Amino acid sequence: MTAVRLALVSICALLLCRTAWTYDSEAGRQKADKACALCHGKGGVSQQPSVPSLAGQRDRYIILALYQFRAGNRPSAQMAQFAASLSDDDIGDLAAYYSGLRPWRPTRKISVEAASAGPALAQHKNCVPCHGGPGLSGQEHVPRIAGQRIDYLTAQLRLFRAATRGDIDGNMTSAANNASDKDIDMLADYISGLSTP
Ligand code: HEC
Ligand code: HEC
Repeated sequence: MTAVRLALVSICALLLCRTAWTYDSEAGRQKADKACALCHGKGGVSQQPSVPSLAGQRDRYIILALYQFRAGNRPSAQMAQFAASLSDDDIGDLAAYYSGLRPWRPTRKISVEAASAGPALAQHKNCVPCHGGPGLSGQEHVPRIAGQRIDYLTAQLRLFRAATRGDIDGNMTSAANNASDKDIDMLADYISGLSTP
């Protein structure tokens, strides 16, 4: 608990103090093209099932995620090495760049079953109010998840349920805590096909 509180305090400090600074999205684009596009796709739209898209993601969430990888609070075989060398300014520039892009589009169609059961399940499990309303486009530090890749969503929900995914405030671990495999499959199917501007 103490570790979680400490992480929370430093993130808040980072987010609040830093929003007063101006970040350079052009510098962010150059860094992204060099170091991130290989996996996250050119323009932040991923072509790889297990890699999330970043185009149009909330800036606060991108900062939070990079900070968590860098601090080792969100374990990731692939991201750890890339986040380790980023300065606070790099993180701000990258967040300014990616959050300013037009959001990614869904890469698949929702199945008939998930189209009918998904909206009520997402509402019932409180995904909707936290993730920015029925369009699930995120808010503040809560990520946009609409149209994100299905394999990635499924993997993240399983990690939260197993309590092994970095989780800034513990909310997602509780949200996924009593989700069945079927719930997770249904939610990932529905959310990954959801088209939100
Ligand atoms: C070798 C491939 C690879 C490279 C290069 C890479 N990433 Fe990632 N990134 C991943 C993977 C895979 C994930 C998903 C986390 C996981 O499963 O480990 C991820 C996750 C993220 C996330 C969290 C997104 C979310 O929705 O939670 C952010 C932000 C991110 N990367 C930014 C960057 C930035 C910025 C760079 C360049 C400095 C970069 N990545 C370079 C593979 C990569
Ligand atoms: C109380 C608020 C809250 C609720 C309820 C909630 N979430 Fe989240 N969710 C968050 C926050 C905050 C994060 C970022 C956590 C972090 O990275 O530390 C997150 C992260 C995620 C991620 C990871 C996204 C990424 O890009 O890595 C997924 C997927 C997700 N939520 C799906 C859901 C689903 C599906 C539900 C409903 C079952 C749900 N969430 C309910 C707040 C919430």
